[in-house]
Amino acid sequence: MTTPRTTTTQVGIVGGGPAGLMLSHLLARRGVDSVVVDHRSRLEIEHTVRAGILEADSVRLLADTGVSDRVLREGDQHHGTYFAFGGELHHIDFQELAGASVWLYPQTEVFIDLANAREAAGADVRFGVSGTTVHDITSRQPSIRFTDADGTEHEVRCRYLVGADGSHSMCRHEIPATDIRQYRKEYPFAWFGILCQAPKSAPELIYNHSERGFALISQRTDTMQRMYFQCDPDEDVDAWSDDRIWSELQARVGLNGCELKEGPITDRAVLRFRSNVVEPMRYGSMLLAGDAAHTVPPTGAKGLNLALADVRVLAEVLDQALTKNDDDVLDDYSHRALDRVWRSQHFSYWMTSMLHRPPNADDFDLRRQVGELRSVVRSTAGSTFLAEGYTGWPSA
Ligand code: PHB
Repeated sequence: MTTPRTTTTQVGIVGGGPAGLMLSHLLARRGVDSVVVDHRSRLEIEHTVRAGILEADSVRLLADTGVSDRVLREGDQHHGTYFAFGGELHHIDFQELAGASVWLYPQTEVFIDLANAREAAGADVRFGVSGTTVHDITSRQPSIRFTDADGTEHEVRCRYLVGADGSHSMCRHEIPATDIRQYRKEYPFAWFGILCQAPKSAPELIYNHSERGFALISQRTDTMQRMYFQCDPDEDVDAWSDDRIWSELQARVGLNGCELKEGPITDRAVLRFRSNVVEPMRYGSMLLAGDAAHTVPPTGAKGLNLALADVRVLAEVLDQALTKNDDDVLDDYSHRALDRVWRSQHFSYWMTSMLHRPPNADDFDLRRQVGELRSVVRSTAGSTFLAEGYTGWPSA
């Protein structure tokens, strides 16, 4: 057995997506060292199509920590959103109702900004590693072992370890099942997501309810759009030609009087979704953040926002634990992060169940949903509740 090359740091982070990189960035601003490892290459992460809405607080976090040049210049500030149902189109004005906006700025762009910022700061971020394992996670010196792209074995020894390694988290699987509780909810549908070369069909997003199922009309740029329609979790993407996709999308929004601008489809994928929460988000010297600790259905666009909210608290708590040399303050992380996680779980579940056609739905179910949507948009209390949840409840 060869001796691995050893690096010592304060915080070892598994996962170099937005959660891991933002944590490393926030820790550095507090003078805390970290090393980030990810099995994916930078290019692979940059080319994974993910969601595109940033809550007001997420943008504030990017701005407050010096990584907002592009989001403020190239992102699209949305003051509201559309809900289409029952043959009508309704606008919800976030600014008027909640005094906040969201930004349309894809997760991959947030990743690029953070990766550039970390690189410019000379941070230790290692993409494209293989065979990552974590060790001694209940001790005061846990470690990460991996092999780099050149075949050299490494060990990163740290005081604290963070699993920011996504919904299939290897780190989470290292926690004995008896020491953790997992809460799960499966949904009987998925989203068929497309990217297309077309102009925008509306100035803001459209959440569309119809008897044919849900559709979401989102955007990317002036010439590239992102759209989704509810489908079966086992739907075969190859069974869908461009024509068939467009006629299904047009039929769903057409029932509410909308029409989409069409264009060539450049990417298509079925996104299965489920809700998942792990409690607590700490095991010994290891903490979980982002999708590794919780996933939400995409309907409320909460995934990335929750991950950023997690690491904001986590950076503060890790800094305190290191300064005071006191592990007990780490318990604060779970309590504070889970408060937001469960509010987001509820919001995402509520949006999902209000807008999607359940399997075997009858006319009663569909009319009841339209009744619920009308109650929300016609009541100031109802639409304010929606606007506050969608723009994200501001953190203290
Ligand atoms: C997206 O643009 O990818 C998007 C927007 C809003 C959502 C989900 C996804 O709720």
